[in-house]
Amino acid sequence: MKVVYWSSTGNTERMAEMLAEEIKNAGGSAEVSEVSTVSPTDLEGETVFALGASAMGDEELDEGEMEPFVEEVEKFAAGKKVALFGSYDWGDGEWMRKWEERMKEAGAEVVGTVIANNEPGDDDQANLAELAKKLV
Ligand SMILES: Cc1cc2nc3c(=O)[nH]c(=O)nc-3n(C[C@H](O)[C@H](O)[C@H](O)COP(=O)(O)O)c2cc1C
Repeated sequence: MKVVYWSSTGNTERMAEMLAEEIKNAGGSAEVSEVSTVSPTDLEGETVFALGASAMGDEELDEGEMEPFVEEVEKFAAGKKVALFGSYDWGDGEWMRKWEERMKEAGAEVVGTVIANNEPGDDDQANLAELAKKLV
């Protein structure tokens, strides 16, 4: 299963690695890629995938790489099972609520979302393990 993430300081990257580990623990396989190394079309043939990005701007996705990537994914997201995750700091997770809503409007089934305040810890890994079970 493909896990594509954007991360500025490594927090969401760590979550992507944790999710991959938990996907393996749940009996699946995971391929983790930083968003700039893949094309949105790499996800087009997948029925299930996970996307990660931290809160940037004012409760937005990173506008350089992640926002354009997600705009392309929205075009073929209908009917796909998608998991969303990412790290944030001072907000209340608004960026993730907006992102989840967008994916649903695009027709995706959002199987779950996990947000971590700054560096992910054990609680976040437990939440990512639950998310992994829904994906596998
Ligand atoms: C330019 C910038 C904008 C940010 N905007 C938000 C925000 O709107 N809401 C929030 O909760 N955190 C915001 N943050 C905090 C980051 O989301 C937080 O540091 C997160 O852990 C970064 O994860 P990453 O290392 O995966 O990028 C912002 C950080 C930066 C540098």
